[in-house]
Amino acid sequence: MEVIIVKSAAEAARKAARIYKRMLDEKPTAVLGLATGSTPLKLYSELVRMCENGEIDFSKATTFNLDEYVGLPEGDPNSYRYFMDANLFDKINIDKKRTHMPCGNADDVNEHCAEYDAKIRLAGGIDLQLLGIGADGHIGFNEPTSSLTSRTRIKTLTKQTISDNARFFGGDPDKVPTHAITMGIGSIMDARMIVLLAFGENKAEAIKAAIEGPISAMVPASALQMHKNVKVIMDEPAASQLRLREYYDWVYERKPEWQKDA
Ligand code: GLP
Repeated sequence: MEVIIVKSAAEAARKAARIYKRMLDEKPTAVLGLATGSTPLKLYSELVRMCENGEIDFSKATTFNLDEYVGLPEGDPNSYRYFMDANLFDKINIDKKRTHMPCGNADDVNEHCAEYDAKIRLAGGIDLQLLGIGADGHIGFNEPTSSLTSRTRIKTLTKQTISDNARFFGGDPDKVPTHAITMGIGSIMDARMIVLLAFGENKAEAIKAAIEGPISAMVPASALQMHKNVKVIMDEPAASQLRLREYYDWVYERKPEWQKDA
């Protein structure tokens, strides 16, 4: 796991955007795993800016999003489909037919989830998966005690996640769906490269547990310790509880320049 601590969320976004650019330059047909929440917003703005300037090309890319709420009407502004269209897909040169999200209103949820994993496989697997992290250490909507080998499936959200996400629903936790379809931890771990972004002090405990704690289903993000190509890019407050903080900076400062966006 490569731990990169930067001054601000804006710097992290620029750094992550360079990873996307490099990926798409090398493989224009790359399969990108995408995330929602407030964490990726600056990265998405940066990708939009780069696309407008002709610095990055999404025309041949395929995307799969991590998760979607269950039961929101189609076009609901709180659906993750709406979020992705508004913040990224409608603003870049991607073919919308190649942007995939789990469907929160599928008739047969189990069948839909199996199909979603199959579609990812058929597309050749995810080249670069973006993740945020929940304050309880969840990735996607894989809440604590999720199986570390789980595949795409329906999950019940914890009260903490519901209250954390209530800000998107006018602050009313009763409006937040209680269930979501999420790629499993096993599905996420199949990605060839993973970039996790984390900002703010309320992520510090989860980040410490994920990076330095034991691997445990109680902290779903800790499974990433078993992945061979993960970069965790965070700001200072999110890094504030890391025990080996100085070591991570020491490693990064000694990294050859050519490796920095790898
Ligand atoms: C939600 C999403 C996650 C996201 C997490 C953190 O639960 N399903 O993918 O990482 O929230 O959200 P935020 O980035 O808003 O802090």
